[in-house]
Amino acid sequence: MPGRVTTPDVQRLGVRIAGTGVCLPPRRVSNHDIAQRVDTSDDWITKRTGIQTRYFADDATTVRDLARDALLAALEDAKVEASDLDLVILATITPEMACPSTAARVAAEVGATPAGAFDLAAACSGFVYGLNLASSLIESGRNRCVAVIGAETLSRHVNHDDRRTCILFGDAAGCAILRADEDAGPPSATASGGRGVLHQAMHSRGELWSALYMPRANKHIPPELDPAVTTEPGWNGQLDALQMHGQEVFKFAVIQTCDMIQEALDATGLKPDDLKLIIPHQSNQRIMATARDRFGLPKDKLYINIDRFGNTSAASVPLCLHECRTQGKITDGDLVLFLAIGGGMTWSTSLWRV
Ligand code: COA
Repeated sequence: MPGRVTTPDVQRLGVRIAGTGVCLPPRRVSNHDIAQRVDTSDDWITKRTGIQTRYFADDATTVRDLARDALLAALEDAKVEASDLDLVILATITPEMACPSTAARVAAEVGATPAGAFDLAAACSGFVYGLNLASSLIESGRNRCVAVIGAETLSRHVNHDDRRTCILFGDAAGCAILRADEDAGPPSATASGGRGVLHQAMHSRGELWSALYMPRANKHIPPELDPAVTTEPGWNGQLDALQMHGQEVFKFAVIQTCDMIQEALDATGLKPDDLKLIIPHQSNQRIMATARDRFGLPKDKLYINIDRFGNTSAASVPLCLHECRTQGKITDGDLVLFLAIGGGMTWSTSLWRV
């Protein structure tokens, strides 16, 4: 299938996730806080989404601040100097500017210049796309050390009077440092010695774009689409805010999440039991629970922290990864499946022996 890459039969280097770090803005917003502004309730949000709290950046904090601090924390955890980085990939749909990339400024602020740096826009799938790109560059020997960051300030881009969207999203950043590991060599589904990506997939279906979109300003909507867009079920009356047709995204996400897991298992010959953990993008607890039930997985096989952070888009997978590493839920040699779905529509998997 286009977009799917199963391990090529060439000499490759092992790749390790050498360190992780996160940054959360200090302001924690509860469902009760949101119910002060729009007609909703803690009970509705908890039951329909699983979310109880999320974090919002204050006016003085930008996505660059969150990304930089997550990167610094990950470098420290990995015991890697910023000057060792070959590349900084920053997955975000809320960059500070279109140009320069937020990644370039983050790289400069931590002292990583002249490392390559670019922003990656694949919405909630961005971090998993980034993991796939970075690991491919390292296993091919072209790069040795790459930072993959997911960072978002979606609280700036939702209509806080639209109860269908403002309840879902939060701000955060997470980062993973990927390094070459020549001693370990490439991974295998059956032997535990190698390290890196066993299977990766990156997909999109742009014809479904209007299920979830976020123009920067009214003028960014193509004029011929404007009337059509404003009759979409997801339309919330504020053209420069995130627009979402929740039920359409929900159905798509349930189907794709199951398909992604199956695709990764089929490509590698692994069984659900072989996986130590599935780390999915945190979109809605019901979406994740449906996929878990479909494969008969025990609760602890699919990591969920949406209750505390909401949907932080590209930051959600690295937030989960960091928690799982620091809490010992994944250790050396485990098989871990990362997966995400987002606007575009995009979706991506990355199956690792970590
Ligand atoms: N509080 C209370 N009621 C709400 C509400 C809220 N925050 N949001 C919507 N409702 C109401 C609706 O107005 C509707 O009322 P009606 O029946 O009187 O018309 C009712 O609840 C059901 O709305 P619906 O849109 O069918 O709810 P839902 O069960 O689909 O849940 C989402 C809405 C947004 C939580 C859900 O569709 C979802 O999570 N979708 C996926 C979103 C996502 O993952 N986006 C990011 C992708 S990466």
